[in-house]
Amino acid sequence: MLKINKDISWIGVLDPELVTFDIVMETKYGTTYNSYFIDAGKKAVIDTVKETFWPEYKEKLLSLVNPQDLEYIICNHTEPDHSGSLKHLLELAPHATVVGSGQALTYLGEMVGKPFKSQRVKHGDLIDLGTKTLRIIGAPNLHWPDSIYTYAEEDGLLFTCDSFGAHFADEKMMDDLVENYNEAFDYYFDVILKPYSKFMLKAIEKIKELPIQMICPGHGPILRSTWKEKVERSAQIASGYLEETLNHNRVLVAYISAYGYTKQMAVQVATGLKKCGVEVDLVDMETMFLGDLEELVVKADGILIGSPTINQNTLLPVYKLFSVINPIRDKGKPAAAFGSFGWSGEAVKLIEDHLRNLKLNVVLEGQTARFYPNREESQKLIQMGEKFAESLKEKA
Ligand SMILES: Cc1cc2nc3c(=O)[nH]c(=O)nc-3n(C[C@H](O)[C@H](O)[C@H](O)COP(=O)(O)O)c2cc1C
Ligand SMILES: [Fe+2]
Ligand SMILES: [Fe+2]
Repeated sequence: MLKINKDISWIGVLDPELVTFDIVMETKYGTTYNSYFIDAGKKAVIDTVKETFWPEYKEKLLSLVNPQDLEYIICNHTEPDHSGSLKHLLELAPHATVVGSGQALTYLGEMVGKPFKSQRVKHGDLIDLGTKTLRIIGAPNLHWPDSIYTYAEEDGLLFTCDSFGAHFADEKMMDDLVENYNEAFDYYFDVILKPYSKFMLKAIEKIKELPIQMICPGHGPILRSTWKEKVERSAQIASGYLEETLNHNRVLVAYISAYGYTKQMAVQVATGLKKCGVEVDLVDMETMFLGDLEELVVKADGILIGSPTINQNTLLPVYKLFSVINPIRDKGKPAAAFGSFGWSGEAVKLIEDHLRNLKLNVVLEGQTARFYPNREESQKLIQMGEKFAESLKEKA
């Protein structure tokens, strides 16, 4: 428990040993799950903590309030690192009203599995706590469709859950008491929020006019001295990312090749693209790190994948590439496949199906070559590059 001001306390928990978060993220500095208690005429809790920390969380809460007296539980975001303890809390606080966006209440209905009192809120709604007022700020898709921010008007505290947070565990908990954690902040933004940059900028626009004293995020230090800096940094990374992804002229040609035939095909496709002035990232995926591959996918305005057929399938590096395609971020990007084969040639069709399932737009029929691409096939591959370049222009 840590008092933030006269009436508001941090009742979160530290998870310093965590090594990966959401499977996709390395957490060198552990993390914290932040929850807050507001002692007003009507008492409220903002977010909870991951379920495994319920016993510790419960103790902190009980030291401050009899849960029977809780009037509101605000859920800014329902990912289980913040909502996992809600079902336990509701056992102790059966009269509390759970407040969240429409999406949040739908998800919580599933997660809690029992009826509970709820109030659906949207941007601009006010919650009257008697001696205090909470204002709801609509901040969807940061990084789930359910997300909102909550602003405690009289205190000037803005509760933002994952936004402006970081995986950084330090019991001192205040941005001006912990050591510099800018690296962890940037890394968190890159992995969790960057794909939603458009939404980040919209949310920042909405909080611009608020007289903020502190930002209280859902992970890592509370921002009482550096909140402006962190908001500016978030806006800067988000704008940079959007600019980078808006040039409509960069294509990833990623291939894998056992004997070099598919590689030759890739070179020809790249030749066609370059003839049309397209900037090409031509890469052999075999030895690439996943993070580097993802960076290229993010930058790419279109994606071409080359793979031979091996045992009626494509190969692991291609599936790795699929794992870093994010349909929310990459939806609609033009895509196509090509590859060498010996007798049955399933790979190209398999890749096309995956690309469609991942919401990419397969704009050209896949090109294949039985073993070595002959002169005619080579011409077709160059044309494939040219036609692909055309489809980029159409998209732009
Ligand atoms: C272990 C192995 C399994 C293969 N399985 C298939 C297959 O199921 N169907 C097919 O059409 N070709 C198959 N092939 C043939 C390759 O697709 C063919 O040699 C192709 O030209 C390799 O292209 P690359 O040089 O780009 O790797 C196989 C080749 C190997 C080495
Ligand atoms: Fe989250
Ligand atoms: Fe989170």
